[in-house]
Amino acid sequence: VRLFANNLHVEYQKYADEYEKKALDVLRSGWYVLGKELDLFEQEFANYLSAKHCIGVASGLDALIISHKLLGIGPGDEVIVAANAYIACVMGITINGAKPIFVEPDQHHNIDVAKIEQSITSKTKAILAVHLYGQSCDMDIVMKIANRNDLLVIEDCAQAHGAEWDGRKVGTYGNAACFSFYPTKNLGGFGDGGAIVTDNAKLAEDIRCYRNYGSRVKYQNDVVGTNSRLDEIQAGLLTIKLKYLDNINKERSKIAQRYFQGINNKLIELPKIRLNTKPVWHQFVVSTKYRNELQEYLKQNGINTVMHYPIPPHLSNAYKYLGYKKGDFPMAEEYANSVLSLPLYYGLTQKEQEYTIDIINNWKM
Ligand SMILES: Cc1ncc(COP(=O)(O)O)c(C=O)c1O
Repeated sequence: VRLFANNLHVEYQKYADEYEKKALDVLRSGWYVLGKELDLFEQEFANYLSAKHCIGVASGLDALIISHKLLGIGPGDEVIVAANAYIACVMGITINGAKPIFVEPDQHHNIDVAKIEQSITSKTKAILAVHLYGQSCDMDIVMKIANRNDLLVIEDCAQAHGAEWDGRKVGTYGNAACFSFYPTKNLGGFGDGGAIVTDNAKLAEDIRCYRNYGSRVKYQNDVVGTNSRLDEIQAGLLTIKLKYLDNINKERSKIAQRYFQGINNKLIELPKIRLNTKPVWHQFVVSTKYRNELQEYLKQNGINTVMHYPIPPHLSNAYKYLGYKKGDFPMAEEYANSVLSLPLYYGLTQKEQEYTIDIINNWKM
């Protein structure tokens, strides 16, 4: 193997001294859950986004589950979501007993906003806007539709830390926004982690209570809550990485630009970018109808790649009970059969990338 699909070593090494010092400080502090490191990270991340409140939780999926639940979404409700979203997005809806209403993606691999309104029923409660691969959904239209139809908006920013729509960071448009700090994310921690961001003080307070067994005051439990907290070591390390997030995103953007300039194989379609977005290149996703062959060819040349994602949620075993079949969401299914994510990570060298581009350009069918 010459290239892995992802490689977290270089980014770690770059700031290793700071991370190691912080981890030791927290270990030696004797305080590991719900402490000053989490308070600081929550403040800093809210500031970074220009949002009012951030509440750290245990994972991106928990952020989704908890935000839907505390916005009052449950049995009998419908939530609109892109049919090609990651399956965790759908789980955030269904674990609460609500029903996902799938809408086809557009050419940017985000929800096709022209198809949202026809999917709204009297049961629709919310739109889950997933900013896939680091590129924002069309938030002007999502917010317009939500306002017109009195719907909530939840943003899934798990792949879009620092991405912008129209000069404003994603995560600040909806009623709540969910983030994941899974290690491979642009703002990735060193284990699982997540956060919910909101401008709504009451919702923020409810989430703080819910994530900690429904407790605001020790031994007093107001609601049946859960245990979902971003621990002190993760929070401390994320505060450090947050300082470098813009640099990390810049580096990722440089890599994306090199792919755009270098790849000229007619069999391969490059990602499309909306004019008023600032993507953060969580993934660089190319498409080709010979996707499996391309993946195999790259592998034979030492380049590993992954697919985001080969099975759309409506066709996964987990959602058989919803009763969908092949052909129900042709765009999402076509994407599932044609997308391939090229290596894109902090520290990918120009040489490695030029090799990848050459190999791709020499590909024939
Ligand atoms: C779009 C999206 N939503 C939600 C999640 C879930 O986050 P986590 O893995 O932290 O639970 C992920 C990543 O895994 C994701 O990519």
